[in-house]
Amino acid sequence: MVNISFYVQHLILTLTITLPYFLCVICTHQCGCEESPPPQPPPLVFLSQRLAVVYPVIQSFKNTITSDPLGITQTWVGSDICNYTGFYCDILPDNTDNITALAGIDFNGYQLAAPTLDGFIDQLPDLAIFHANTNNFSGTISPNISKLPYFYELDISNNKFSGQFPMSVLGIKDLTFLDIRYNSFTGSVPPQVFMQRLDVLFINNNNFMQRLPDNLGSTPALYLTFANNKFTGPIPRSIGKAAATLTEVLFLNNQFTGCIPYELGFLGNATVIDVGNNLLTGPLPCSLGCLESAEQLNFAGNFLYGQVPEAVCALRNLVNLSLSFNYFTGVGPLCWKLIKSGVLDVKKNCIHGLPGQRSWAECMAFFWHPKYCPYFASYSIIPCKLHPYLHSPPPPSSRSGRHLLSYSALLRRRL
Ligand SMILES: *[C@@H]1O[C@H](CO)[C@@H](O)[C@H](O)[C@H]1NC(C)=O
Ligand SMILES: *[C@@H]1O[C@H](CO)[C@@H](O)[C@H](O)[C@H]1NC(C)=O
Ligand SMILES: *[C@@H]1O[C@H](CO)[C@@H](O)[C@H](O)[C@H]1NC(C)=O
Ligand SMILES: *[C@@H]1O[C@H](CO)[C@@H](O)[C@H](O)[C@H]1NC(C)=O
Ligand SMILES: *[C@@H]1O[C@H](CO)[C@@H](O)[C@H](O)[C@H]1NC(C)=O
Ligand SMILES: *[C@@H]1O[C@H](CO)[C@@H](O)[C@H](O)[C@H]1NC(C)=O
Repeated sequence: MVNISFYVQHLILTLTITLPYFLCVICTHQCGCEESPPPQPPPLVFLSQRLAVVYPVIQSFKNTITSDPLGITQTWVGSDICNYTGFYCDILPDNTDNITALAGIDFNGYQLAAPTLDGFIDQLPDLAIFHANTNNFSGTISPNISKLPYFYELDISNNKFSGQFPMSVLGIKDLTFLDIRYNSFTGSVPPQVFMQRLDVLFINNNNFMQRLPDNLGSTPALYLTFANNKFTGPIPRSIGKAAATLTEVLFLNNQFTGCIPYELGFLGNATVIDVGNNLLTGPLPCSLGCLESAEQLNFAGNFLYGQVPEAVCALRNLVNLSLSFNYFTGVGPLCWKLIKSGVLDVKKNCIHGLPGQRSWAECMAFFWHPKYCPYFASYSIIPCKLHPYLHSPPPPSSRSGRHLLSYSALLRRRL
């Protein structure tokens, strides 16, 4: 009895557990009401294999982004990478098959935050340009970036980078544009950077502190901005070697010492030379009268002294010659004319008979311990044929208000 009862109970139990299953099997065969498996997303179809390769790289970078206040990354979905906000495609160079590849990234102003760009830009094999002004990126730049065959423009300005100069950029063979201004880089800028074929080197508004390397003048750059750092020591005499290319150079607001090198006057193509607010001393070399293209010359806020060379005031393209807050003692007739026309500013110097000068006591105290310059004889040499305007007034300049790239770089925003 006990056994039978047990088997009956067991049978009932088994049926109650399995019956719904059998019912369901019958039901699904009869009514086709089976639960469909979750729908597979359609496989992504990319315009080219080159784009298929970068898709996972972009997606994993997207996962590291910690802040995206403008919702930029919402557009980074699907296979149409060329339509993602901030991404730009182009036909692969050196290729007859017209293959579309990811060529450029422009995140300017997107305010994205991510702990590193490593594993992102260095893993996009066809990338030529990366611009990311005004984001919150930090970390390092991977040495793998030097393996990108087409890469030539890097702009990580106004981000949160810190530590040493990003040495891995030295390995980028064809780099022409390097903009790392407005970060917190410290230490020194390696001399190799002046051997690279850069057109633009913007390193202003960091914390670089060093004497500039002697090979500075080897740079073929057109635009150099070193402003608002803590550079020390003299402006290297080699700067004269950059004469054929250097167009705008900003040294302002550093701690440069020593005298202005005679060779600065070799920069016949320079439109802007700004060494304002440093610790420079000595007279202005007469060679500066050879700066034929000069429009803006700023020497204000130093310890410069002596007579302002008439050759400088004779420069035909000058819009603004600022010599204020120095210890100059004299100006000739051409310079007088520039003061009257508002081009030359000599306030707070030691020029007798002019209003707004330093006090007699201040000037005396300074000249009690004048600093003399090495190569002093070079200061009166004029290494060019001066323009006949030296003996007649220059015509009014028409260049004022021109957009100057280097001065724009002193603002945080993108260029
Ligand atoms: C590109 O993206 C925008 C929205 O981000 C969308 O409206 C448009 O249809 C997309 N274009 C293509 C060709 O997919
Ligand atoms: C690539 O583009 C060029 C110029 O548009 C065209 O002449 C050439 O036929 C294209 N090649 C292929 C394989 O589509
Ligand atoms: C970026 O960093 C700045 C300063 O640390 C902070 O004020 C700002 O909120 C950050 N923005 C984002 C989007 O994280
Ligand atoms: C460089 O790339 C290699 C291979 O892609 C990787 O193993 C390595 O971790 C990368 N190095 C850095 C510093 O990103
Ligand atoms: C200015 O540039 C031109 C063209 O590059 C060059 O021929 C000329 O020598 C340069 N001037 C100076 C002073 O080097
Ligand atoms: C001339 O240059 C100095 C120094 O850069 C600047 O402070 C001043 O505003 C400029 N003057 C004019 C009239 O632009």
